Amino acid sequence: MTDHAIPAARPENPRFSSGPCAKIPHYSLDMLSDAPLGRSHRAAVGKSKLAEAIDLTRAVLGVPEDYRIGIVPGSDTGAVEMAMWTLLGARPVEMLAWESFGEGWVTDAVKQLKLDATVRKADYGRIVDLTQVDFDKDVVFTWNGTTSGVRVPNGDAIPADRAGLTICDATSAAFAMDLPWDKLDVVTFSWQKVLGGEGAHGVLILSPRAVERLESYTPAWPLPKIFRLTKGGKLIEGIFKGETINTPSMLAVEDYLVALKWAQSLGGLSALIARADANAAAVRDFIADKDWIADLAEDPATGSTTSVCLKFTDPAIKDGAAFAKAVAKRLEKEGVALDAGAYRDAPAGLRIWCGSTVETADVAALMPWVEWAYRAELAAQ
Ligand SMILES: Cc1ncc(COP(=O)(O)O)c(C=O)c1O
Repeated sequence: MTDHAIPAARPENPRFSSGPCAKIPHYSLDMLSDAPLGRSHRAAVGKSKLAEAIDLTRAVLGVPEDYRIGIVPGSDTGAVEMAMWTLLGARPVEMLAWESFGEGWVTDAVKQLKLDATVRKADYGRIVDLTQVDFDKDVVFTWNGTTSGVRVPNGDAIPADRAGLTICDATSAAFAMDLPWDKLDVVTFSWQKVLGGEGAHGVLILSPRAVERLESYTPAWPLPKIFRLTKGGKLIEGIFKGETINTPSMLAVEDYLVALKWAQSLGGLSALIARADANAAAVRDFIADKDWIADLAEDPATGSTTSVCLKFTDPAIKDGAAFAKAVAKRLEKEGVALDAGAYRDAPAGLRIWCGSTVETADVAALMPWVEWAYRAELAAQ
């Protein structure tokens, strides 16, 4: 390739947004024709759809039988905050953050709930030293930093016999990474990420120990109806059978069911993980021998396989932030990568969503365009 030669191939699907993420391959609105629109979500038809969504979530993710799975309002944010507001305050808390969303949960704990929490933060591109964390406290953390391209590599640092609860925002990890259920007491995610579903609803998964906390502890602060998981000191079991707190979108539920069935048709979780792994490898293979671009993740063991974040490292670049934005703009203008700029609070660069709905051929086709856009911008600056 000469410096500015236009690459021959284009990604068939240029959607590399980190949320909402690309729909499943060959998606069409016709796939939603079985949605019980205009029917009550409390009617048998609505309830059975919600229960099916819970059952398929358990089947695809391999959630243990004694963990509760609930569909809740407010997308992933709703699920995380519901957990924080109902569970925290009973014992000391550690908040871990390595990017923007984790920092948001720190703000919730410290400024809103006014908890005297231990806060551990790592710069973009790193995670905190998990061996230093006291898991006898309640620990809140993000499995995959969507805005920083780093993830927790495994659950080894979390003791099985911990006294605290682990509350894990897994929204950009669930369905693309192995989650060690025995090490996690609360897991949250939204449908708009790895399965390419819709926003608005969150999933809240609770271990038996989390339920025990809910039934034995009443927070000092008031809880809006939307956060209430217990009544008279007992878990509201209906929430975990599809009796949602308030009205869900049955269209979004149908869309989630379609994605879950697609996941099953591929072979389930291992196939989803393999797709994300292959996508991330396509990015990393391309950048491996380049001296002008690098992974934001400093340690390959913590490199994300869904939200791969890249930084430009060429010293000839004059204004890093403007340069990265201009490259993303060129990619968008060419129609080869939509929404591939770094998150607004993250270091300048690109973020290429490599979750399971993305085709590896599309990632591979994109990478020469990244080089093309970099060279074109370098010449233009
Ligand atoms: C790690 C993380 N947490 C929380 C959120 C917020 O998710 P939602 O908009 O579904 O509430 C996001 C969204 O990108 C995220 O990446």
